[in-house]
Amino acid sequence: MSAKLSLAICGCGSRSRTYSKIAISLTNEFEIVAGADPIQSRVQAIHQISNNQNFKAFSSAEELLAQPKLADIMLIGTQDQFHFEPAKKALELGYHILLEKPAAQTIQEVKELAELAKKHNRKIVLCFVLRYTPFYSKVKEIIDSGQLGQIISLRAHEGVDPFHQAHSYVRGHWAKSADSTPMIIAKCCHDTDIISWLINSPCTSVSSIGNTAYFNENHAPEGATARCTDCCPHADTCLYSALRYTTDKESWLNMVYPDPTTKRTKEKILNWLHTSPWGRCVYSCDNDAVDHQQVIMEFDNGASASLSMTAFDSGRTLEIFGTKGSLRGGDAIKQQFNTDLIIRDHHNGELEKINLQDQIDKQYAGHGGGDHGLINSLSRIINESSESPIESIIEGHLIGFSAEKSRLQGGIKITLT
Ligand SMILES: NC(=O)c1ccc[n+]([C@@H]2O[C@H](COP(=O)([O-])OP(=O)(O)OC[C@H]3O[C@@H](n4cnc5c(N)ncnc54)[C@H](O)[C@@H]3O)[C@@H](O)[C@H]2O)c1
Repeated sequence: MSAKLSLAICGCGSRSRTYSKIAISLTNEFEIVAGADPIQSRVQAIHQISNNQNFKAFSSAEELLAQPKLADIMLIGTQDQFHFEPAKKALELGYHILLEKPAAQTIQEVKELAELAKKHNRKIVLCFVLRYTPFYSKVKEIIDSGQLGQIISLRAHEGVDPFHQAHSYVRGHWAKSADSTPMIIAKCCHDTDIISWLINSPCTSVSSIGNTAYFNENHAPEGATARCTDCCPHADTCLYSALRYTTDKESWLNMVYPDPTTKRTKEKILNWLHTSPWGRCVYSCDNDAVDHQQVIMEFDNGASASLSMTAFDSGRTLEIFGTKGSLRGGDAIKQQFNTDLIIRDHHNGELEKINLQDQIDKQYAGHGGGDHGLINSLSRIINESSESPIESIIEGHLIGFSAEKSRLQGGIKITLT
């Protein structure tokens, strides 16, 4: 049996805790040896998950990265604006990296990380968890088998969900692009990556439009208060009332409530909402993240694709049109036909339905099985795979950053060389 891979964790927030729990559940594969975060209770939470008496705690990434190399892999689970610097430093120290998406805040930085990984002969595994789901793995397998023929066009749709939009992209970490990354990167780099992975040809042009149509002051109901806790007259009827964090939306706080180690009471939550960004009225935040965006893409092999993102739907849906057959799958198909994928053969009109539920058991909960699938594949990627996985993820980032460039210029076509 090969030796355990050791992990050091930079940023002990929500994502890092999720991956750490999965890593530790895979007996004999990983050990967690260090964690860094300015919020001490979060380091403590990772320490508890690690079950390692020799765990080393640090109060910042900088402090952790000032040490000589402590582990095989550095998991970088800090926020979008603080991926590039720790990743660069960790590569220089000789770590392989498990890096949260997006890889960085600009395409230049993404490419620089890829170059550095090559220079230091290290691997960067990006947390593009969708690639590791039973659903998208199956779609890839079907395309690669040739069953659909040559892929001519693809339509992808992402419904963020209205409350999720409000939580993360109006009140939350990704509300202001300058402080994090634009919506098409922060949320949809998963989708642009999947599109590029499935079409498997360089993207040659991108155009995009979108704006913040709803989550703005024009839609505030009369008399709405700046904070939901300020006796807002709409508290009982507003879909986005922050008071729902004390009732049916409480679980959303797992991701943002400062202290993950102590029990949250209703009183504690209400106190926190008085000053926290998550207590603000969604119609009077400082958000500029779009609540809908369309992207169209052309590829070197002649294929085209479109991606629509909206706050006002829930789940991902995919349609792929090939010369031999078409494939439809995802949440909308599941709701309508109670199956994950439907393939139609153009020649004889036959329909094939594929249900993946037996592969998406309870263990596969996070991101349709992607969180588990990623960590399950990590040892193999680090130990066996010959190519550096980061090279294959530049393209999806390039599409996303180009889409934002196009959107900011009114939807002009951006030609990629
Ligand atoms: N792969 C996915 O599907 C997926 C899903 C959600 C989020 N994400 C990405 O994961 C990343 C983390 O998201 P999250 O929700 O876990 O965020 P989080 O805010 O819960 O965690 C980030 C942590 O970094 C810590 N931190 C801040 N400055 C630091 C420093 N100098 N040194 C060390 N730690 C520091 C914060 O205190 C916080 O605990 C983001 O980039 C996000 O876009 C990916």
